[in-house]
Amino acid sequence: MPLSHLAACEGRQSVLNPAGRDAQDVLGLIWVMFGGALLLWVLLGAIFVYVTRVEPREMPRRWGEALIIGGGVIFPVVLLGALLAYSLPMMAPQRAAEAGLKVHITAEQWWWRVDYELPDGRRITSANELRLPVGRRTGLVLNAHKVIHAFWVPALGGKVDMIPGRETYLSFQPEKPGVYRGQCAEFCGASHALMAFETVVMTPEDFAAWLKAEAADAAPPASGEAYRGAAVFAREGCGGCHTLRGTQARGQVGPDLTHVGSRKSLGAGILEMTEDHLSRFIAHTEALKPEVAMPGYDHLSLEDLRALAAYLKGLT
Ligand code: CUA
Repeated sequence: MPLSHLAACEGRQSVLNPAGRDAQDVLGLIWVMFGGALLLWVLLGAIFVYVTRVEPREMPRRWGEALIIGGGVIFPVVLLGALLAYSLPMMAPQRAAEAGLKVHITAEQWWWRVDYELPDGRRITSANELRLPVGRRTGLVLNAHKVIHAFWVPALGGKVDMIPGRETYLSFQPEKPGVYRGQCAEFCGASHALMAFETVVMTPEDFAAWLKAEAADAAPPASGEAYRGAAVFAREGCGGCHTLRGTQARGQVGPDLTHVGSRKSLGAGILEMTEDHLSRFIAHTEALKPEVAMPGYDHLSLEDLRALAAYLKGLT
């Protein structure tokens, strides 16, 4: 089943189900603003009923002026000023990049380049999935390649635009291990709605182990079929666009596939990662993701497709 169909019922992509400090702050702000708006609505409704039903006479001029200056100028200035004072201090921590792990995320058409920068400067390249340690603040450095996109993981924090030529920042402090869905939130072309990703929040120990595995080179084929798949990968020139670290494949155009088989989703959050979906995606790329740069490889035989899928799924 496409992952997108699961999202709504599980609350994995909802600001109402916060799983991090930043999302908690945002939700607090939502409730305060909702409460304020409700109060204002009730107050205005009461005034309206009073002047039309209870006391429908002409109001003394002094009263009218007091209502305009008090209710039209002073009250909104105080209310909006208070909301501003309450919300402004929330912004700085949501952008604070602490020393430690930093993740560079670049929005492509229509997928995510994800680069983990370790404190020692080393970089580990991945794609289409974000992994974060629970309880720590991780800085996110956001960029876009061709057009404006927006980075949004509602369960973990606010939404920030990703703008070509201008770096933007965000940081997350997740508080509950789990898998949360992120979604591009700025229209960026034909496959905008198909530009999602999973954020996996892990315990610091699990995260360290995962990062170590992610830093390793691509695993060699482990079965006869996977071996044949590796040959198809080489023969079809997949390495011209995709990187498999430790092999001849060093393409930079498409997502890094070094550990593609370990990801939860395929095609930037649109399909669950299975061998069947891999062969379907490779054969009918354009049908599954309109206007994507990768052509569909529907000329491959079913055996070749299956072998290729087995090879890629084995890249964990
Ligand atoms: Cu990327 Cu919308």
